[in-house]
Amino acid sequence: MQTVQVSLADRPYPIHIGPELLGSSDALAPFINGSVVVIVTNATLAPLFLAPVREAAIRLGKRVLEIVLPDGEAYKTAASLDQIYAAMLGANCDRKTTLIALGGGVIGDVAGYAAATYQRGIPFIQMPTTLLAQVDSSVGGKTAINHPLGKNMIGAFYQPQAVLSDTSVLKSLPPREFAAGMAEIIKHALICDVDHLAELERDVAKLQARDDETLARVIAHSCRIKADVVKRDERETLGIRALLNLGHTFGHAIETEMGYGAWVHGEAVAAGCVLASQLSCQLGHLSVADVERTTRLFAAFNLPVKAPKVAAAKLVAHMQRDKKNEGGVITLVLLRRLGEAYLDRSQTSANLTAFLSKQIDGV
Ligand code: NAD
Ligand code: GLY
Repeated sequence: MQTVQVSLADRPYPIHIGPELLGSSDALAPFINGSVVVIVTNATLAPLFLAPVREAAIRLGKRVLEIVLPDGEAYKTAASLDQIYAAMLGANCDRKTTLIALGGGVIGDVAGYAAATYQRGIPFIQMPTTLLAQVDSSVGGKTAINHPLGKNMIGAFYQPQAVLSDTSVLKSLPPREFAAGMAEIIKHALICDVDHLAELERDVAKLQARDDETLARVIAHSCRIKADVVKRDERETLGIRALLNLGHTFGHAIETEMGYGAWVHGEAVAAGCVLASQLSCQLGHLSVADVERTTRLFAAFNLPVKAPKVAAAKLVAHMQRDKKNEGGVITLVLLRRLGEAYLDRSQTSANLTAFLSKQIDGV
């Protein structure tokens, strides 16, 4: 098992990474103080993974309450939150209850927000089951639900007691979801660790085969990168954590334009990172060889490396509504070199429309 510490001054916590962690009462024991454990998961994952977690808690003498939500981003809502609150209040869960979020980023975000708000905050443990959740959403304490008027618009920063990432569960992950996680791993390397980029290039075949040992090492490396960023700017106020949004401004625009679900998030991030590297090249920061290297790595994991054939102006209109923007100026994360990202506010809407038209239509 590998362990990465998230070294926040007042609330440090470990990320344990390795095979067969879900059913381990030893892994769970240090993080549960009360007598009740609530496991929140979804209907796809319950038949696959609920039993070992339940059994591990029961072996520790805990009473277990199970809450199974429907599967999907469409259920990252206030209604799901209410379902969790109602079940917990109905079972008289007190403030010492530990909540376990067993699932991908959707379950982690909604259950994490329930933990942040139930009786003003109860302990919770992230048990991420997607590669994306293991390297990104379970680390760093962002929790949220969607509002009909915007994604992730209601939420809180709320750190877990621990993250227990079982690499064995990744075997059943659908190929597109696995690739989506690889997109975030490559993104972390592009932002601040060019050595990790070389490691990923070397390990493409082993990663594609979902080799346990390679996955645990790469997940740990990616978590170390994210944990370091979170330690330096937990609340995203210093312009450091915002760098984790490389590829996201273009990516969110693609997701919105295509309709949520047409592209999974990591696919849009991959195309967005390639666009960010092309723009960084146009601005004189990256070489053509750097862009080709970046593109090759995303493509090696079957990720899209081109924006879809849509009107550039439509993408820019979506980018104008990005949360990072200030005073109407579009804020992009670009690359000064491979392994070093920065926030760029130099691009006008007209520039970006011309740039995207060239990438999409070749004109
Ligand atoms: P997801 O949670 O929807 O999971 C993807 C699909 O894979 C689901 O159908 C799920 O049931 C299934 N699945 C999960 N684990 C599986 C397994 N081991 N085997 C088989 N199927 C499995 O999607 P995601 O990509 O994990 O998360 C996306 C969400 O994460 C979005 O809502 C996004 O906003 C959020 N997010 C949050 C943060 C953060 O910092 N909090 C960061 C990135 C993304
Ligand atoms: N996923 C970006 C962040 O956690 O800040």
